[in-house]
Amino acid sequence: MRKIIIDTDCGFDDALSMLLAFGSPLAEVIAFTTVHGNTSVANATANTLKVLDLVNKDVPVYPGCAKPLVTEPHYAAYVHGEDGLGDAGIPVSKRLPEKKHAAQALVDLASANPGEIELIAIGPLTNLAVAQSLDPELPDKFASLTIMGGAVYAKGNINITAEFNIYVDAEAARAVFERWPMVRILSWEMTMDHLFTKENLERFFALNTPKSRFMHDTNQIILGFVRKMFDKEFLFPSDELAVACAIDPSLITKKETHYLSVETGGIQSRGLTYVDWWDRSGKTANAEIILDLDQERFVQMMEDGLR
Ligand code: BDR
Ligand code: CA
Repeated sequence: MRKIIIDTDCGFDDALSMLLAFGSPLAEVIAFTTVHGNTSVANATANTLKVLDLVNKDVPVYPGCAKPLVTEPHYAAYVHGEDGLGDAGIPVSKRLPEKKHAAQALVDLASANPGEIELIAIGPLTNLAVAQSLDPELPDKFASLTIMGGAVYAKGNINITAEFNIYVDAEAARAVFERWPMVRILSWEMTMDHLFTKENLERFFALNTPKSRFMHDTNQIILGFVRKMFDKEFLFPSDELAVACAIDPSLITKKETHYLSVETGGIQSRGLTYVDWWDRSGKTANAEIILDLDQERFVQMMEDGLR
């Protein structure tokens, strides 16, 4: 069974990705680390604890960085709600977060279990950047790193060319890509090509379990946003896709390995993830870019997590 740590800015799709992980027999979640992003780090921590109530599991939650390395936080209340969970009134958990900082926890857990833990980052990469500054050997101590982030064809969702998680802390993302020997990337474009369709949503909501009702209630703001923007009913399962691929890489049916980094300057290009698709730069490949996956099995994994 894979031991995983999820670094999260716990918005509604982060929460669903946690349900997916807890529903899988292939993974054991050994810790969560939280970070600013979709919402404040305080909300991200509180939301992760709420998910633990829902699945009735005790997993340590380590609160991390409240701000990006250089810039100010950039929350996304317009899709995630003020509380990050769609302002659905999910009760506050009585569980308590750990006292240790997320970055230190990443260092300590990886050092105590070298080569054993798969790290999955589904928010801005600030905690990872700080952790690798604390321990430069850190990237070699994790079994793998999977990131939900990047717009590999520059079809962004936060500005024209960049994806949210990378844009929000571009300096941290760049530091991570420069330091980790290999990072698995689940991009925004993959998300756009692997939606939860109206039929999928009907199937999930029909389960009518506490977890599927949680999904229904926490996703109303984003569903309204999607309806207004696209005149359709669907969800973008970005974090769910990343977690599914990390837990079960056999889902991945097409991938390419290339050099990738992040533009930290510019106005339209800040946060752009540029990929050396033709390997012309002579730089060592550092990113395994997921290009397709088994959608049916992925949807089934989500359904398993909602039962
Ligand atoms: C990413 O940003 C957040 O809104 C989601 O949780 C996901 O991690 C998508 O760009
Ligand atoms: Ca996220």
